[in-house]
Amino acid sequence: MVHLAKVKKDNEVPSSTHDIFSISPPDRNDLDTNVYGSHFAADHMPMHEMPEREMPRQVAARMIKDELSLDGNPKLNLASFVTTYMEDEIEQIMSESFSKNFIDYEEYPHSAEIQNRCVNMIARLFNIPTDPSGENAMGTSTIGSSEAIMLGTLAMKKRWQNKRKAEGKDYSRPNIIMNSAVQVCWEKAARYFEIEERYIYCTDTRFVIDPKEAVDLVDENTIGICAILGTTYTGEYEDVKAINDLLVERNLDCPIHVDAASGGFVAPFIQPDLKWDFRLEKVVSINVSGHKYGLVYPGVGWVIWRSPEYLPQELVFNINYLGADQASFTLNFSKGASHVIGQYYQLIRLGKHGYRAIMTNITRISDYMASEFKKMGMVILSQTQGRGLPLVAWRLPTDDSRVYDEFAVAHQLRERGWIVPAYTMAPNSEKLKMMRIVIREDFSMNRCDSLLQDFKLAIETLDVMDKSMFDKYRSHFLSHRKHPQHQSRVHAHYIGEEHSLQGKTGKTHGRISIDPKRNDPPTRDLPLSTSTPAHLPPAKAMKLHPSKSGDENAAVFFVGTATTIMSVQFYKFISVDHFDKKVEGSLRRDLPIITTQHAKEHLTSQKNDSFTSVSALDPFEQVEVNIEGTAESQQPRLRVTGMPGKHVPPNRVVEKLNKLAKAVGGIPPTNGWMLELGYGRPNTTDFSCGYRIYISGDTLLVDELQEIPKRYAGQRIDLMLAHLGGTTIPSPLVGRLMEPLALMVTMDAEQGLQLIQLIRPDVTIPIHYDDYDVFASPLEDFRRIVEAAGLVDKVVFLDRREQYRFRVIK
Ligand SMILES: Cc1ncc(COP(=O)(O)O)c(C=O)c1O
Repeated sequence: MVHLAKVKKDNEVPSSTHDIFSISPPDRNDLDTNVYGSHFAADHMPMHEMPEREMPRQVAARMIKDELSLDGNPKLNLASFVTTYMEDEIEQIMSESFSKNFIDYEEYPHSAEIQNRCVNMIARLFNIPTDPSGENAMGTSTIGSSEAIMLGTLAMKKRWQNKRKAEGKDYSRPNIIMNSAVQVCWEKAARYFEIEERYIYCTDTRFVIDPKEAVDLVDENTIGICAILGTTYTGEYEDVKAINDLLVERNLDCPIHVDAASGGFVAPFIQPDLKWDFRLEKVVSINVSGHKYGLVYPGVGWVIWRSPEYLPQELVFNINYLGADQASFTLNFSKGASHVIGQYYQLIRLGKHGYRAIMTNITRISDYMASEFKKMGMVILSQTQGRGLPLVAWRLPTDDSRVYDEFAVAHQLRERGWIVPAYTMAPNSEKLKMMRIVIREDFSMNRCDSLLQDFKLAIETLDVMDKSMFDKYRSHFLSHRKHPQHQSRVHAHYIGEEHSLQGKTGKTHGRISIDPKRNDPPTRDLPLSTSTPAHLPPAKAMKLHPSKSGDENAAVFFVGTATTIMSVQFYKFISVDHFDKKVEGSLRRDLPIITTQHAKEHLTSQKNDSFTSVSALDPFEQVEVNIEGTAESQQPRLRVTGMPGKHVPPNRVVEKLNKLAKAVGGIPPTNGWMLELGYGRPNTTDFSCGYRIYISGDTLLVDELQEIPKRYAGQRIDLMLAHLGGTTIPSPLVGRLMEPLALMVTMDAEQGLQLIQLIRPDVTIPIHYDDYDVFASPLEDFRRIVEAAGLVDKVVFLDRREQYRFRVIK
């Protein structure tokens, strides 16, 4: 991202000394020579401070032009959906309109009129109801789909709030439902307007929203569902009709906004019978980018509302022009009029026939390219024959012996001038690497053939590389990334942001590094010379997998209660359910800790004695721990994901009392954890999981746990550490006397068995089953119930100080 530029500090600005030159520069006043003979050609370009003096216009223009020539060629940029070709006639008109501020309706009434014509044409293209008995639909131009989506989201939120207010109900917790593959503008909209994001996660085989899962998530606080007509990742059209029909069937008052950023100008021409637009009664608003398949240069977008009912009055401002009120709903006041004019030109110049011809051509070219890639063995992930956007998304065939990946292919193509992105799929299926080519209007068959030839050459070049040759090539292209132009432009203050989907899932950040060589003791009251023992304390007994063992390279050591120490290769970490004041006081303040939000708040608010390296995870948020200090090509990595957990059943009197009691030490909120032990190549975000451990934490078998097998569908959970014991508060004895206040806060044997049936781990180890006098369900109960269920070969029982050894696959 380069939009949010960081202002360099004095020590980051290089001094522009010319002492290294032995020949003196040309006379500063000599401007008779051409640009390259002037002193400007040998001066650094002004970068940080505005120059004191003017520069001749032909010099300024040439210098900027020369610099921009180092940008990629937009026509070869196959990553972008954005228009790169318009006819000369309209380019001329657009440049003549640069000086028109679109918002000045009074001065430029014809530009405003042109926008209104575009709104009408686009709304009708989307089958807006135009029945004279109904109210007029409405719409507006925007800078792009992002602004359009912000407006659409605001309108849904306001409408929902108004309805809740009228019913005298709480309107403080709106939520919106969407696919995890949404474009980042949806996350921004939800974040900026304080709306809870509810995601339907993609899987390794489904990259679009699951209509049933989406509608199942609707509750009284849902402002709407977003459905995408042409996802950014694979270009697939989401099944808007299925969502609509389920909402109608269940009689739910929940609107749909269709994000047709790319598909809005494709589907009406290629799949006119596909019902995704205002023909569906629950679709209340649609956005489309004029600058994508609308065939206009960036930036123009459009948003249309079915009727004023879905665009609450308080969001609209009236601006008076030529004696008539013009209603306005935008985020920005000023913007140029040229792009709206450009859109009108395309609509009337091409007409439906022209758009259909262009969309048909590029759909055919995209099908051809997909079939050629398929012949080369590529796995095609996008749709063909107009069932999705005209783009091809694919991955390399599965082949464990291949040394290169999609990112290497992208680099090879870049060396041949083509910009073809390689990327990882949306959160939850981000292990999937893929590549994508967007077929735009100016990508003719001739260009397609050239690309295919270069693609074949790229694969041939990579195929002949053996491992050591490829490693050299890789470090060459990674070092290319070290070029200042490619370095992170993110201001240091924002690097650790954890609110975006990417931030939360650790796709690009949310990363901790630990150096096992540091080896400091975890406690601070030991002498400085003390170091962590290299090995775990000797175990009383060592247990192995009940049916398949051999080549173990990792261990879990059961300390007691819920405390375990994991030891993998040369790093160790400890898992505890809580620690007391004494332990808290003794721990080193910079010890990396991953915990709940609640615990983080406590640990980091201790005035001068706060912990300094605490990461908090809500359910399904993720952090990656990089184990530094090895030169190996596969560095050990640990991925930790928060899992849901609840130990106070909802709506119990006790829950309410507990809330009141929090300040004086009530039961704090809890989490479970998924630990993925794995490896990745240095300097990459690769992660390949070699062993997956689910730690249930102090939870009951609540509905929220159902989400775990869904999210990990198709991914094996090797080990489950189940907190059992049926912990009852107050203790079982007092509890019987104090019903209904007594409650169980961890699973008993019966729930433990149900948890095994829900999570289906390969092996389960019960922990947290004895200790204080609060355990109502002893381990024996669990042993009996497991035997009765015929699951003895799925459970390993560990006593305190016993160890279970397992294998992390590399
Ligand atoms: C599905 C989708 N929605 C929204 C956007 C944002 O659109 P814009 O770039 O017009 O703001 C994009 C951009 O790629 C997109 O693909």
